[in-house]
Amino acid sequence: MFSDKDLIKNIYLYSKLNRVPFHTPMHLGRTEYPNDLSELSGLDNLQYPTSTLKNAEEYLSKIFLTERSFLLTNGASIGLQAAILALKFYYSQNNLALKPLLVSRNVHKSILSGVILAGFDVEWLELNYDDNLDLYTGLKLSVAELKEFLSNREDTYAGLVLTNPSYDGFYSDLSLLKSLTLPLIIDEAHGTHYYFSDDLPKGALKTAGDIVIHSLHKTLGALTQSAVAHISLHSKVPASCYEAALRLLQTTSPSYLILKSILESVQHYVQEAKELYSKVKAFQEKILTNCLTANNDDYFRIVIQNTAAEGLEVFLEKRNIFIEKKSSKSITVFLSPYHHEKDIDLLNAALNEFHTTNLSIASPTLNFFSFPDQALNPQLAYSSPFQELPYQESFGRICAELFAPCPPGFPLLVPGQEINSSIIEKLGICDDFLKYKRGIIRVVK
Ligand SMILES: Cc1ncc(COP(=O)(O)O)c(C=O)c1O
Repeated sequence: MFSDKDLIKNIYLYSKLNRVPFHTPMHLGRTEYPNDLSELSGLDNLQYPTSTLKNAEEYLSKIFLTERSFLLTNGASIGLQAAILALKFYYSQNNLALKPLLVSRNVHKSILSGVILAGFDVEWLELNYDDNLDLYTGLKLSVAELKEFLSNREDTYAGLVLTNPSYDGFYSDLSLLKSLTLPLIIDEAHGTHYYFSDDLPKGALKTAGDIVIHSLHKTLGALTQSAVAHISLHSKVPASCYEAALRLLQTTSPSYLILKSILESVQHYVQEAKELYSKVKAFQEKILTNCLTANNDDYFRIVIQNTAAEGLEVFLEKRNIFIEKKSSKSITVFLSPYHHEKDIDLLNAALNEFHTTNLSIASPTLNFFSFPDQALNPQLAYSSPFQELPYQESFGRICAELFAPCPPGFPLLVPGQEINSSIIEKLGICDDFLKYKRGIIRVVK
């Protein structure tokens, strides 16, 4: 009854069976989630896929033109952790010493989790801060400058890790990095939709990148936690290293709702690309005529400039409009083909009202802070005996924890960094830090 090939069809067939379940999940499919299946007979095994899941991964590999693609049910986060661990395995298998990783400072915290698990040292690449928007737009170095920087240093690093595009849709063409011998891990969590349209930038699988990670709930229409990892054609890191790393980390009870949504969302974009993209483009144009927006590279992400952004967020929420991200001088909204025309009209009307009303301007909370260098290996600092202090007393101490306020999710506190006055100042205005960590910081004893 079950086909070897078709995951979506098999899940449908399961839902039609009059099953008497004595297995997980314990809601037995009798609550609101009838299709929440896991690894049942006929539905394959995510750690060792041989049938439906293998077929699904091959489909993704064909669409994204990769050596191999891996389904992820624990978000891009697990994919990035596995990427760093895979790099470590690659060096161990080749009896090579573990050199530091060169990492852009706006990487997601999961990269740092991977670094801590694998034991790498880290050298940071500084970011470009846009004062008009109060956000980081990408690397301080252009790609050409980065290539030049690496020209006589490639063999001093174990790999290069970049986030591209940025959270807010700022992009750099990485083509020039294609000739590097250094392995390249690209966090393309915010760029999956680049692959189905010619009027968006070129994804890393078409420019340069050995391991590339996509978050499908951030870009396409898949369920939260759905993601895909890709090993590019001609990757320097073999797919076998990635597979081994992922087997250590990924759940043994994958959600088939998530797996199904990965496939369906990709199929939707493949089949209806033209319609979906023109819809979003039209939404963007409608918003553009209405307010001052930043010149990013992705019309699915609109950065609206405003000196009273703090006030704008609250103003919008009072009208039941919720944004993705704010800074003191801009807000970022994500557009989707699943938006309705009336959503865009409501946003536009609220923006109009905001700009024509004389609102009090909230005091700016600048995002900019100067990042300290690493004083200690992240794994060593994270696993050292620690002491907890009020953050105001932490100047000059070595940080023993990883803390990344979301969004954008890049670490404010990195284990092994010496805490400077800029970090202390930022902690003092970081709502998440004060709320969730109650102003307490872990430092190496
Ligand atoms: C740049 C970037 N990479 C990775 C992630 C993690 O993605 P996921 O939520 O799919 O685990 C995020 C989440 O915010 C992100 O912004």
